[in-house]
Amino acid sequence: MESTLPYSWYTDPEIFGREQERIFRSAWAYAGHLGQVAELGSFFTTRAGQMPIVVTRARDGELRAFRNVCRHRGFPLAEGEGQRETLQCPYHAWTYGLDGSLRAAPRSDEEPHFPKDELGLCRASVGTWGPFVFVNADADPEPLSDALGSMPEQVAELGLDVDKLCFYSRWETELEANWKIVCENFLECYHCQVAHPQLAQLLDVSAESYALSTDGRLSSQRGATREGGGTRMHLDGELPRGQFHFLWPNLGVNIFPGRPNISIGPMVPLTPGRTYRFLDYFFGVDVDQAWIDELMAFDDQVGVEDRALVEGVHRGIASGALEHGVLLTHSEQLIGHFQQLTRAALAD
Ligand code: FES
Ligand SMILES: [Fe+2]
Repeated sequence: MESTLPYSWYTDPEIFGREQERIFRSAWAYAGHLGQVAELGSFFTTRAGQMPIVVTRARDGELRAFRNVCRHRGFPLAEGEGQRETLQCPYHAWTYGLDGSLRAAPRSDEEPHFPKDELGLCRASVGTWGPFVFVNADADPEPLSDALGSMPEQVAELGLDVDKLCFYSRWETELEANWKIVCENFLECYHCQVAHPQLAQLLDVSAESYALSTDGRLSSQRGATREGGGTRMHLDGELPRGQFHFLWPNLGVNIFPGRPNISIGPMVPLTPGRTYRFLDYFFGVDVDQAWIDELMAFDDQVGVEDRALVEGVHRGIASGALEHGVLLTHSEQLIGHFQQLTRAALAD
């Protein structure tokens, strides 16, 4: 049997700092959807790892991303989302265009050589897959398509056209658990039979039928709907199977069988013991409200069950009772894969 990562890695601030530097500093992060920057002159704020980011659509129509920190003395510039022509810092009112250029800085004309052209916002990167917007704190990262790997292809093969999806809602929460515990919980359905009775009625979660695979940084789980399952959820629809993808380091993507649907969002480390999680839900335009309501209620229930699990694991791990745990070779192979990638990234 394989051992898990050392349990000290789930609480140690030094490891947390190294994760930020080595893993998240240059990773693509799911940020939001194109509807948030559909209009010319719009923006929204997000983060890539711990780096605050603002995504903008200036008058020229181009989608851009910047580090959301004022070049003057470091105040976080934009907040939330909205429509406007410029971003003004609340501290001393330096004003930037949505193209990142510094437009005005009070009293700067009194400076002998004020290098206005050099004081625009620092470039970050932005990319899209269908309606999904990703950001990267790096100005020149690997292409987003390389990071996404075969996920877009696998989703298309299932028969889901992401370009035809409409944003429905965002769900947000904070969990009292290390981000890796939240990811690892996503990566196995060994617990589904025990902890998610409704999910286990909907999908065949048995070891024989529930398929696990990896491809580079992508880990995928596929579940067929259970024949004659006692669930109330209506499974007739275009999508014959569920697909649950995890893109290392921290992105989860869920597609349930039935009507066109997807939910996508990251598990963002806040502190060694705290994780921010959000999920953006999208549905096909003609999916009826009753179907959406049923899926949302079902998924809420799974979320409540998973919260109790990951917060419990964090308490157990943080207690110092054990040095590490063990992984089942077949059913927990995706956790093994996650831990290998994580270990390699943190190695000297
Ligand atoms: S910190 Fe932004 S204007 Fe001074
Ligand atoms: Fe779960």
